[in-house]
Amino acid sequence: MTTGASEGENPSEAEEVRPPATAVVIGGGTMGAGIAQVLAQSGVAVTVAESSPEAAEAALARIIEGLRRAHRTYDDPEAAAAAVGERLSVGTERPPGPVDLVVEAVPEIMNLKMPLLAELSRQYTGCLLGSNTSSLSITEMAQVVERPERFCGLHFFNPVPRSELIEIVTGEHTGDDTVAAAVAWAGRLSKTPIVVRDSPGFATSRLGLALGLEAIRMLESAVASADDIDRAMTLGYKHPIGPLALTDLVGLDVRLGIAEYLASTLGERFEPPQLLRDMVAAGKLGKKTGEGFHRWDS
Ligand SMILES: NC(=O)c1ccc[n+]([C@@H]2O[C@H](COP(=O)([O-])OP(=O)(O)OC[C@H]3O[C@@H](n4cnc5c(N)ncnc54)[C@H](O)[C@@H]3O)[C@@H](O)[C@H]2O)c1
Repeated sequence: MTTGASEGENPSEAEEVRPPATAVVIGGGTMGAGIAQVLAQSGVAVTVAESSPEAAEAALARIIEGLRRAHRTYDDPEAAAAAVGERLSVGTERPPGPVDLVVEAVPEIMNLKMPLLAELSRQYTGCLLGSNTSSLSITEMAQVVERPERFCGLHFFNPVPRSELIEIVTGEHTGDDTVAAAVAWAGRLSKTPIVVRDSPGFATSRLGLALGLEAIRMLESAVASADDIDRAMTLGYKHPIGPLALTDLVGLDVRLGIAEYLASTLGERFEPPQLLRDMVAAGKLGKKTGEGFHRWDS
């Protein structure tokens, strides 16, 4: 996969007057790989910047797998995936810019995100800068960002190619133009945006976690089995997935981190149940380790 795809090969694209939009995704893990994939599928030239050659290689493998999956019903899935891949570049270097969009998707650690966002805002001055954080304060991050009016939360959902929602999180300094640009990017990626004021857990993580933690407490006090607690929501309330299975998909460690943060900001109703702490300590992190509240065979 390289940058600088030849747009001229496709007649309909050749008629486009505007040059292709450009984006940089920082971090090509679970989320960054998916974000890069949907950007490339939407005709955007994307560079993914990773922290090491090994991480870049793993990111590339994730994106290729995502593209194969997205194109598996095509007559020639490999060719279709390769055509999109032409718009993608994965490595350890950030492109010089200018670019139209920068998405930060590194781990949920404030001390990691803040210096990186400060650098990004100095390097890419004229573009929309978004963080894919699922819970951290956009206003706090904006303190180190050069032009905070151009910065907002761009919260994609997992798996990115199949999730319709983007939660746009507005910090105290986020400008109206930036919100409009973020809404336009959501449309370009065929996602539906919601606009949420910066507050702990935003709308999605806060509501999702409230249900998830209560389900864990119910399991802890043997109200029902994990399967039946999940069925209560899938069959009874038409949720597409039960709260315990969802916790397994997100990662128990990830949810524990968010719960601790929400407990410290919103109060003890988000205090993590002991069962969640015990399972994380035992390495039962959900799908990624093969076991969480359910067993996940490959
Ligand atoms: N996993 C989810 O379901 C989910 C959903 C929505 C939002 N999020 C948020 O998305 C962000 C990323 O989560 P993830 O699950 O993709 O994490 P992940 O651990 O899968 O990926 C993070 C990637 O960032 C890379 N990285 C670390 N430091 C870097 C640096 N300085 N420069 C470039 N790359 C660097 C790592 O090598 C890794 O590949 C977090 O803020 C998380 O809260 C996650």
